[in-house]
Amino acid sequence: MNSTTQTILLQDISNLRSKEAQWNPYPWYKEMREQYPVYYDAEQDVWNVFLYEHAKRVLFDHQLFSNKKERSFIPIPKLMDNRSNVNFCDPPQHRNRRALLAKAFTPRSLEEWEPRIQSIVDELLTEIEGQSTVDIVDKLAVPLPVTVIAELLGVPAKDRAQIKAWSDVIFLPYAKETFGDTEARKLQTMKEFHNYLYPIVVDKRKHPSDDIISDLTQAELEGERLTDEEVVGSAMGLLGAGNETTTTLISNMFYSMLFDKPGVYRELRADLSLVPKLIEEVLRYRFPSTNDRKIVQDTSVFGPDMKQGQMIMVWTGAANRDESQFPHAEQFDIHRAENQQHLAFGSGPHFCLGAPLARMEARIALASFVKRFADIGQTEKFDVLAHLTDSPMGQTLKSLPIRIV
Ligand code: HEM
Repeated sequence: MNSTTQTILLQDISNLRSKEAQWNPYPWYKEMREQYPVYYDAEQDVWNVFLYEHAKRVLFDHQLFSNKKERSFIPIPKLMDNRSNVNFCDPPQHRNRRALLAKAFTPRSLEEWEPRIQSIVDELLTEIEGQSTVDIVDKLAVPLPVTVIAELLGVPAKDRAQIKAWSDVIFLPYAKETFGDTEARKLQTMKEFHNYLYPIVVDKRKHPSDDIISDLTQAELEGERLTDEEVVGSAMGLLGAGNETTTTLISNMFYSMLFDKPGVYRELRADLSLVPKLIEEVLRYRFPSTNDRKIVQDTSVFGPDMKQGQMIMVWTGAANRDESQFPHAEQFDIHRAENQQHLAFGSGPHFCLGAPLARMEARIALASFVKRFADIGQTEKFDVLAHLTDSPMGQTLKSLPIRIV
């Protein structure tokens, strides 16, 4: 069982109450960086940090800032945690848990995956060829990550629509008025998802093949094999961690090319080596990520006195626009040097295990798209507010129609 007992709502600990503010949190981030970089929210009993240096310190210093927490903004019900949960724990325990999964994400494993991801991307792009306007979220950003993670885990790719629907509900953000209903819906969905995965796990334990679920059924943690329940929990965790996040990255890449830097598409087409640079800049510039930790002991490491047991929010999306780390931080610039220093994938011991996979998916998707299509353009009268949906990160794109030349 998870030790997390209380979910903190993002809108309660920020000024990000409207849809518009959640989609565009950057002015609020700037105000906080400049005026209240270490901010205590007394009502919620939560500290908030916004500067790059502070964010990095919290994520690195697990002795002072623990990931074993009772309160979190991550909107997942209690069931998700178990002995093998890689995220809600600290070193040294964390090391063994992470090692269980790390094998699937080594450069060698990813190399083996590259041709498969390429063919999934090619199939998706062939489907949109010949159309003058497409919804790039629906046609590429949603199906790619869920198909990849389903195959990686070893569950049938034909079930991807159902898997995506389950994962959407599990990660639905809570709202005060509907908290109970949302919780009940999530628990029901997790039960359904569990009942779907369980026989797959039992079968793979008997007949292992070349996929992550099979590997997990054979793996040992502290001298014991993982139980079927623990493997189910890890599989659900990976799906959750790798699905919506990568969809947001791919959607935002297209949004940035259309609205943050019109014309950059043609630059990429002239020089495909710029593709990874654009991806890193999107992660820095347009990825409103946050993390949280529990303060382990009284400290004044950032100035004010912070108390043991209090929660601390790390606004990594704000840190990624900190001028002291990124010159002209409020500009979208794919040519910046050292462009991997952003914190969109976290930092320190919990640095995103799936980052190389997410980067590879985004790179193959974008490079293949750019090679195939001469240019892209905005559709007429595009109103972003009509294309948003609730997500744990605030508002993210639910659809993005683009013109294809
Ligand atoms: C653009 C896409 C992604 C973003 C922005 C992202 C972001 C993050 C962040 C910020 C963390 C750190 C959490 C913390 O410090 O507590 C994290 C951890 C993690 N991510 Fe990702 N992620 C992405 C894609 C993926 C993918 C594709 C997978 C795997 C399929 C994945 C698996 C994980 C796992 C297992 C962890 C936990 C690592 C640990 O606690 O040691 N992520 N991710």
